[in-house]
Amino acid sequence: MPWEKRNKPNTKQKPLGLIVTGVVGGSLVALYAVTAPFVAPALRKICLPFVPATTVQVSNVLSALRARTGTLVDIGSGDGRIVIAAAKQGFRASGFELNPWLVWYSRYKAWKEGVHHKTSFHISDLWKVSFTQYPNVVIFGVPQMMERLERKLAEELPSTAKVVACRFPFPTWIPEQTVGEGIDTVWVYDAKTFRCHNNKTGTPSEQSQCGQ
Ligand SMILES: C[S@@+](CC[C@H](N)C(=O)[O-])C[C@H]1O[C@@H](n2cnc3c(N)ncnc32)[C@H](O)[C@@H]1O
Repeated sequence: MPWEKRNKPNTKQKPLGLIVTGVVGGSLVALYAVTAPFVAPALRKICLPFVPATTVQVSNVLSALRARTGTLVDIGSGDGRIVIAAAKQGFRASGFELNPWLVWYSRYKAWKEGVHHKTSFHISDLWKVSFTQYPNVVIFGVPQMMERLERKLAEELPSTAKVVACRFPFPTWIPEQTVGEGIDTVWVYDAKTFRCHNNKTGTPSEQSQCGQ
């Protein structure tokens, strides 16, 4: 065999190798992009994973807020099920959620279920959002975050607010009502009571109503 023929590079295999590398690399990047937002909460100081509310839990939240109207926020809104259910009950409902995939899915679901005009979903860290404008608040958190969240909400919420905690109650606030049982229990708190409890907040007239 002549020398040139023996040493001729095999140009036919190169494009296939490149395609395989591209497909494998692209798939890995896509897999990382999809899974990272779900894994990231576990790596934070307070681990708050995506665990969706059960159907009974959603119904307990709605029942606890039956007599209420206006705006509502679900803190850590997951796939948007509480926000969407609240919008169907007449609230203007918002969700704040760290995971962008869940936020995009929530927006799609709200649109599909015809409540997109009564809902909004934000990609945000709950610790960086001010909840001052919300008289109805829902949180399905974890025990490790509830004490810090108590302080934040007592500082920010109006005295007309009601807060509903799902599955895990706040550590020091006294609930005015509980709805449901077991893992579906929700605790309802009245801002007038917890603002007295966290007695550094509130106007002078509110403080005098608290007996201070
Ligand atoms: C227990 S799930 C509750 C989901 C939804 N509220 C429900 O009841 O179906 C908590 C949600 O909070 C989100 N989350 C975790 N850390 C967060 C943070 N710092 N800011 C906003 N959302 C957060 C998680 O991604 C998860 O979707």
